[in-house]
Amino acid sequence: MTQDTQNIQNIQWWQRGVIYQVYPRSFYDSDGDGLGDLNGLIAKLDYLRDLGIDAVWVSPFYPSPDADFGYDVTDHTAVDPRLGDLAAFDRLLAGLHDRGMKLIIDLVVTYVSDQHPWFIEARASRTSPKRDWFLWADAKPDGSPPNNWLSAFGGSGWQWDSATGQYYYHSFTAQQPDLNWRNPDLQAAMYEIARFWLERGVDGFRIDAAHWILKDPDLRDNPPNTAPPSDVARSMGEYDTQLHLYDKGHPNCHAVFAAYRRLIDSYSTPEHPRFAVGEIHVFDWPEWAKYYGENLTGLHMPFNFGLVGAAWRVPVIRGVVEGVEAAVPAGGWPNYVLGNHDEPRIAGRIGRVAARAAMLLLLTLRGTPTIYQGDEIGMENGIIPPDRILDPWGKFNPAMNRDVARTPFQWSAGPNAGFSPAGGQTWLPTHPNADSGVNVADQEPDPASMLNLTRALLRLRRGSVALYGGTYQTIPHTPEDVYAYLRSHGADRLLIVLNFAADSRPVGVRGSGDVLLSTDPERPSGTVDLAALRLHPHEGLIIKIGAEIGYNSLP
Ligand code: GLC
Repeated sequence: MTQDTQNIQNIQWWQRGVIYQVYPRSFYDSDGDGLGDLNGLIAKLDYLRDLGIDAVWVSPFYPSPDADFGYDVTDHTAVDPRLGDLAAFDRLLAGLHDRGMKLIIDLVVTYVSDQHPWFIEARASRTSPKRDWFLWADAKPDGSPPNNWLSAFGGSGWQWDSATGQYYYHSFTAQQPDLNWRNPDLQAAMYEIARFWLERGVDGFRIDAAHWILKDPDLRDNPPNTAPPSDVARSMGEYDTQLHLYDKGHPNCHAVFAAYRRLIDSYSTPEHPRFAVGEIHVFDWPEWAKYYGENLTGLHMPFNFGLVGAAWRVPVIRGVVEGVEAAVPAGGWPNYVLGNHDEPRIAGRIGRVAARAAMLLLLTLRGTPTIYQGDEIGMENGIIPPDRILDPWGKFNPAMNRDVARTPFQWSAGPNAGFSPAGGQTWLPTHPNADSGVNVADQEPDPASMLNLTRALLRLRRGSVALYGGTYQTIPHTPEDVYAYLRSHGADRLLIVLNFAADSRPVGVRGSGDVLLSTDPERPSGTVDLAALRLHPHEGLIIKIGAEIGYNSLP
């Protein structure tokens, strides 16, 4: 276990701070077309500042035909006219910086839209100079695809191009041809895009689908997957029938991330450090940790999705945290996230009461937390009638529909949940629970609301060196359904206790402490005898403790 806390003064904003993910199509619609936009986000910057987050990661705002809602890009250095323009982007960046917040943007590097000029050129002929910027292969003699690789959304990953008589590869939709990262000109063009945004002033990147960037050059078939279903990784149906040995995560990808790292570091100064977090869906923690690179020359952080699909049970959650703690290399920094635009809502997954404890968990673990928009008000999975499904994955397999996490942000109980002016239709339906308290306007004045709980947690984390920079230690032998850990730095020692059960539980710790925060509004603050303390159903507690506490000796 490597918990570097000696240099707390030197930890950087992306380590100390909390990131908030904005999915711009669904945050706030400033012009009444039913789609969120950059001006809408700008209009809500005071909300984000008052929430108490440190950085905003904005999902793609680039021009896109919306085969995959912004992740199919036709121009990496422009803004989709429906969402704004570069001037709006500059206002967004300045608006965040003026309020002491940072901006992280999505860098979509693994594929482009099939409408992108590069691909249009590449598919024009086999001798096109851009042909090798993509992954082309001949059919097998019987006309079938070159190998058994699958699209993550279902079906073969190979799409036949009749005009040129070859297949091209797409890890996701057929409208997102994968780029060939073994081509040096493609590499140079991609690094140029990162420079464009660094020079414009962005503070960091979320590198999209980073895990998929390089594949086996020999195009070997994936072997079958015989492992039992995981209780951490989300099930992906047909895609899980294969062991994805060859279609992603090729070891050469680390050289690409090292190159990105050098590029980003070359734009960093002590006053303006920048960083990159990569989307890495790997749940074998030592394997996952390789993305920090040898001697930390890779990504500043690979996203850790361990809490996103994990069953809400103590052994599973504690196992993720301990696995991550053990795997993060010396000098590396962990991170956690409960959800994003690709995953069901945490409140939908575990219920709104337990989601309060989940927010406490997220904001008290060691490492950078990322909050997904709307989780701070307890938004639940959207209800999408079959004829309004937009997500390409959801169209293929309704059980995987990601629209549920992308419904408009709920600002009020007013028309269109305050997301979009009255009268128009929002791009995805708003959730009816916006009318019954799941909205900002109603929660703002209510001290017991999820919004005010999140704000209190963020305030506490910002003010506690133990939370933003201290060590993590599991408390052993806690009662069933109770997860407890210590976060400490010097005299700042906090005991975190979470009850995963729907009835009350003892804490399993002896000594005394001061309750600083509970997810249960009924819990009084003040000094408590830990041995006598009983956790309320689904309660999470932060307790300030002195030097000595005792643990149960029996499991
Ligand atoms: C990334 C994005 C996801 C998108 C996928 C394919 O995983 O997070 O939204 O669908 O890439 O484009």
